[in-house]
Amino acid sequence: MRILILAISLFSLSFAQVSDEYVNSLKTQALQENPNFKGFDSNRGEQIFTSKHIGKKGKEISCVSCHTSDLSKNGENFFTGKVIEPLSPKANPKRLTEIKTIEKWLKRNFNDVYNREGTAQEKGDVIVYILNKG
Ligand code: HEC
Repeated sequence: MRILILAISLFSLSFAQVSDEYVNSLKTQALQENPNFKGFDSNRGEQIFTSKHIGKKGKEISCVSCHTSDLSKNGENFFTGKVIEPLSPKANPKRLTEIKTIEKWLKRNFNDVYNREGTAQEKGDVIVYILNKG
């Protein structure tokens, strides 16, 4: 029984630990980019996630275009039509469990929508939004 409880708590801690570690490293970077940095903001994250921009392929697009605004549901790739599993770590335990994967996709996805990489502050805002909303 004790082993089972331990296994369950390890499992449920994993995304929380990785996302904490990631958010903390973004905080350090955000402070280097801007000494007046005051912390991440889920409302700004929502703005980043839902607002539309002319993206890399010249089409108006937002993060919602592929991930939908309900992070607990499947999304669909705007360009290829492929199903994307939910972005919410509560709905999809594989999410936010590996910093390398998060970084790779944020870099690619910010480029898709904003035609540039996100700043540490923007990435932190949007991750905090996903954690709060999901
Ligand atoms: C053109 C479609 C598309 C757009 C637009 C898009 N994404 Fe994604 N995103 C994907 C795909 C595809 C994956 C990787 C496949 C998967 O993991 O299901 C992914 C993965 C991610 C992940 C990885 C999470 C993890 O740990 O597995 C995050 C975080 C993410 N996207 C955030 C964003 C944010 C923030 C935006 C807006 C700046 C955005 N995405 C816009 C298609 C998109």
